[in-house]
Amino acid sequence: MANSLFRRKSIDKIVSDSHLAADDTHGSGLKRVLTVKDLTFFGIAAIIGAGSFSSLGSAVFHGGPGVIILFIITGIACAFTAFCYSEFASRIPVAGSAYTYAYASFGELFAWIIGWALIMEYSIGNIYVAFSWSDYFTSFLHKAQIHIPDYLTCSYIEAKKAVAEGSANEELKNAWNTAPMLGSLRMILDLPALVINLLITYLVYRGIRESRNFSNVMVILKLAIVALVILVGGYLVFSNGLTFNWTPANEEGIKSFMPNGFGGVMMAVSSVFFAYIGFDAVSVLAEESKNPQRDLPRGMILSLVICTIVYILLTLVLTGAVHYGNFDGVGDPLAFIFEAQNLNIGWMQVLVSICAVVAMTSVLLVFQMGQPRIWMSMSRDGLMPPVFQKIHSKFKTPSFATIVTGLVVGVPILFTDKTFVLDFTSIATLFAFVLVCGGVLLIPRKKKVPGRFTIPYVNGKLVFPLIVLAAIAMLTVFAKKYFSDKVDFSFEKKVEALAGVIPAKITDTTWVAGNIENYLISGNDADSSFIKLTNIVRSTSVPVEKYLAAAKFIGDNDPVQSKTAKISTVIFWLLITGLAILAFIKNYSLIPLLGVGTCLYLLTGMSLSNWLWFGGWLLLGLVIYFLYGYKKSKLSHPAA
Ligand code: ALA
Repeated sequence: MANSLFRRKSIDKIVSDSHLAADDTHGSGLKRVLTVKDLTFFGIAAIIGAGSFSSLGSAVFHGGPGVIILFIITGIACAFTAFCYSEFASRIPVAGSAYTYAYASFGELFAWIIGWALIMEYSIGNIYVAFSWSDYFTSFLHKAQIHIPDYLTCSYIEAKKAVAEGSANEELKNAWNTAPMLGSLRMILDLPALVINLLITYLVYRGIRESRNFSNVMVILKLAIVALVILVGGYLVFSNGLTFNWTPANEEGIKSFMPNGFGGVMMAVSSVFFAYIGFDAVSVLAEESKNPQRDLPRGMILSLVICTIVYILLTLVLTGAVHYGNFDGVGDPLAFIFEAQNLNIGWMQVLVSICAVVAMTSVLLVFQMGQPRIWMSMSRDGLMPPVFQKIHSKFKTPSFATIVTGLVVGVPILFTDKTFVLDFTSIATLFAFVLVCGGVLLIPRKKKVPGRFTIPYVNGKLVFPLIVLAAIAMLTVFAKKYFSDKVDFSFEKKVEALAGVIPAKITDTTWVAGNIENYLISGNDADSSFIKLTNIVRSTSVPVEKYLAAAKFIGDNDPVQSKTAKISTVIFWLLITGLAILAFIKNYSLIPLLGVGTCLYLLTGMSLSNWLWFGGWLLLGLVIYFLYGYKKSKLSHPAA
């Protein structure tokens, strides 16, 4: 059994299975129409979207202008990964992406796990983008004086949470209070998110050529408007003499490029990483590109380089135009900088809103095309039912898989919310990246063939262990307590003890600040934790401000998150040391080693609940594999 779990599919077999003989242009049933320009456009279409238009605001708020450093680190991590994807894509030019690559390197069980994780990147990621699309779309309609009722523009969970937590967001609370009732159920749903998902599914179902044309137009438009934001915003930053915002003062009055230190910058990992997800989607178009061996790597790396430059410039413009501290809770940062109290250019606000809607539409399109193609590959291998390979006779698209993707994105839109899906997507994608880079280390090296991409081989035998040793030495010398702090949990224990004497809800400082004084005056709230708190306050005569300060302290130093960060960092250093030893013994190639290392490092930014949800998802995947894929796999029935 153990051997059969790691049974591998040979690269030759993968290629021949997809009927990809050298002179075959239509073998797999998909049309070969994409060029390097199309692939680069697809990359940009998938990369620039909700991450840059929406969550960039919170990234900047946490990290200040210094978030540029994180964009560079993440860009480098993605570039290493893109090299690894390219190496695989040039050897195995078939649809299926990381899933197919894992089949050739790690074997069937890991391939299934990757395929399962990719559902989170492609389908669950698209739920986040659909929600963000809806936010911008409704606010654009708002500017055009068209109003959709609030209960049709947000998710049920968001509205429920807003009311339960006494959020300051009036639209969400209004959605809850004005929603029509069906029995005891409030009819709240994000209609624009559902409609855009339906339209995109239809477009992808209709065919690659139509999708490509649509995507190219959108990318040109979005790059043009992003360039305009950079030019107009950049010009105003200099002409209004705002460059001092690049070294802003923090709460303590200290001026710095990283006002909240590197810790503040690292808090933005999830949003920054999400902004980069998408370059890998290019690889699933292998069977539809004219010259996949040459063009896929070029398309991927080109789109990554262009997007990194765009992100750095956008961050500079944003943090120059407005003090970083003003981005708290700003969901449309690129439009925000042109508002009256900031740079004050009304027409730019409207243009940016249109651009955001366009940008996110193209992201939706690319991801919605990727998912069915991965399932198609899994079905070919027997790990998914045969119907997932069905190609539409007229449109030449994987029709059944496309419809299922539409449902997998559409149905959860009714039951989830943005934050949850963002975290879920980021952790799964990073996990897949680690395995792709690790996979390149395991496949045998090949000779360079002219016209084909080969990952540049630099022997990591000495270089990689030296980099790891140098990093450890520098941390020991310059950040003396770095390592000892990672295994010392006494601080977290103290915070937990403090949290124990303060009622649970009190750790939500916004809620407290908004309600406590009213409550103390009127004394008519039935909430038990409130009563407990006020009794403590009254009986001990400790000023309310002290409780608020304690609550803020607990909120700022969440002990669970802090412990998770420490434990993941310890695991990171253990893994990286193990990798250095293996690199020394096996002469591993440097680029994939750095890919594994940087992606593992980004994983240390994930929260405990992230890990738990991800673990649960993987477990479910394993159950399905053993009940279906393990038995039906083509490798179990070689003759079939
Ligand atoms: N990178 C894509 C976006 O930001 C997923 O929307």
